[in-house]
Amino acid sequence: MKTLQRTLSIIKPDAFERGATGDIINTLLENNFRIVGMKMLHITKAQAEGFYAVHVHRPFFESLTDFMSSGPIVVMALEKEAAIADYRKLMGATDPAKAEAGTIRKKWASSIEKNAVHGSDGEDTSRFELSYFFAGYELSK
Ligand code: CMP
Repeated sequence: MKTLQRTLSIIKPDAFERGATGDIINTLLENNFRIVGMKMLHITKAQAEGFYAVHVHRPFFESLTDFMSSGPIVVMALEKEAAIADYRKLMGATDPAKAEAGTIRKKWASSIEKNAVHGSDGEDTSRFELSYFFAGYELSK
């Protein structure tokens, strides 16, 4: 029996601004992710701080939360077998200089901060992140 898993994806302000949204969504579909929820948002600084609360003591927290609240983003709930690990592989390394050819970040990211996309890094994180942006009734069965 197939065990489906869900993960949260964000197209960040830099990628949205560069017009990468359509290409990134196509890449997700070509890689057999099912989009079970999607919305375009322009979050506030406080909402970005809540989402990235785990990084509150990191030196890049201020800059990251300014960036994430600087323009529109697209948040998606993705479903697939092993969705969390598969999506992280498809995104590529956090630092685009280290991202492999064929990954989303290799193609669209411009720096370690402006790195085009976000993906949950584990099961607990994905549960928190999905519930941060989506109510249960907003996700497809
Ligand atoms: P993301 O996968 O969304 O998780 C945390 C984010 O913090 C990361 O992508 C980057 O946008 C940002 N980030 C991580 N490390 C650094 C860093 N060393 N300097 C600046 N931003 C970083």
